[in-house]
Amino acid sequence: MKKQRVAFITGVTGQDGAYLSEFLLKKGYIVHGLKRRSSLFNTDRIDHLYQDPHVDNQNFILHYGDMTDSTNLIRLIKEIQPDEIYNLAAMSHVAVSFETPEYTANADGLGTLRILDAVRLLGLEKKTRIYQASTSELFGKVQEVPQSETTPFYPRSPYAVAKMYAYWITVNYREAYNMFACNGILFNHESPIRGETFVTRKITRATARIALGLQDKVYLGNLDAKRDWGHAKDYVRMMWMILQANEPEDWVIATGTTTTVRDFVRMSFKEVGIELEFKGEGINEVGIIKNIDQEKYEQATGNSSVRVPQQSEGVSRTHQPTIGKEILAVDPRYFRPTEVDLLIGNPTKAKTKLGWECKYNLADLIKEMMQSDLKLMRKDQYLKEGGYTTLNYFE
Ligand code: NAP
Ligand code: GDD
Repeated sequence: MKKQRVAFITGVTGQDGAYLSEFLLKKGYIVHGLKRRSSLFNTDRIDHLYQDPHVDNQNFILHYGDMTDSTNLIRLIKEIQPDEIYNLAAMSHVAVSFETPEYTANADGLGTLRILDAVRLLGLEKKTRIYQASTSELFGKVQEVPQSETTPFYPRSPYAVAKMYAYWITVNYREAYNMFACNGILFNHESPIRGETFVTRKITRATARIALGLQDKVYLGNLDAKRDWGHAKDYVRMMWMILQANEPEDWVIATGTTTTVRDFVRMSFKEVGIELEFKGEGINEVGIIKNIDQEKYEQATGNSSVRVPQQSEGVSRTHQPTIGKEILAVDPRYFRPTEVDLLIGNPTKAKTKLGWECKYNLADLIKEMMQSDLKLMRKDQYLKEGGYTTLNYFE
């Protein structure tokens, strides 16, 4: 019988960690994941994969640890003896990295060094292949459009600078110690389990809540920013493909299409039959409901469009979406001290050399995210109507 391959995923509780775990388990891997200790459970995204540690033959095993703790990483890699390491753990929020630059450098930059050096120290250079979660944020103030593996970097945040260190230390360990260590320079990828404070999920959650009458308005930052958004499922498949290649290399993974934040908002509201128009400029720009396709609205929300909730339901009358209502405004608090205005990737190398293709386009992605958030928020609606309080997750 063929020996089961063993993978170690840091950041297993994150968006990509969850999808990658599912993907590798389906392929027959034994998956070990690094999770942080937190005061509340932080395993929502992987709970469906959880296996009772008291049962024999577990193939999904979680370990406590942290990217800032070398001794912990060395011990775990020694015990696990992984064939493949996927280093996904990071403080991954660009805006937050301006608030926590030192910690970001430690976890995202030095954390990568800790993994690489643990493998070297343990003499696993020949056995263990390493995937480093690199990012299109490295291109920052872009020097070329679209961006490919040869585009020069110009990072624009503490996050991107930390990831730039991680990128080069990965290249350096590959060249110095002949390790199979690769960077996947991934452009933005999203999904229904995307963190709630990234712009796509913030938008789909708010759209669902506004459509259901649970929220009045959403406040966003730079509506002109352009991103190359793909689906996380397509991207984790590519992480695995990168480690199965004949040679260790660095790869750009992107859809090759870019869209403004404003258009992402438009497309999300369209999913619930609401047409928006944008008026004003800069910090005075607002989004107003121009039209409501009643049939589509009712189909998407399950709400009768004329239904006016009672005060006893904990939902105020003013929350109902109506034509002419302002449901979006700009709040400068979401601006970044230095911004990445435009990202669009050229994934030709991944397509031609590894045969990677995206299965999802942006419209598919938004549809899936909207359906998922509508379902989630409908649950909130039921709870409110039943007199229960709901969690107040806002940024
Ligand atoms: P995510 O949802 O924010 O997940 C990050 C993961 O890292 C979480 O499991 C988090 O744990 C863990 N983590 C954070 N700090 C840690 C530390 N000090 N020690 C151990 N674990 C730590 O991010 P993602 O979207 O899945 O992205 C995965 C990786 O790809 C990240 O490195 C990100 O920077 C990179 N990337 C993402 C994209 C994208 O568009 N998604 C694009 C390019 C690159 P908790 O759950 O406990 O917070
Ligand atoms: N988060 C957020 N919140 N972003 C906003 C908002 C808002 O209210 N309003 C506008 N934006 C703009 C940001 O200024 C940025 O230009 C764009 O929307 C995307 O922001 P995020 O969704 O936070 O993602 P990101 O592009 O900064 O970073 C993500 O992608 C990188 C790959 O390019 C993260 O996943 C990084 O970890 C990843 O490396």
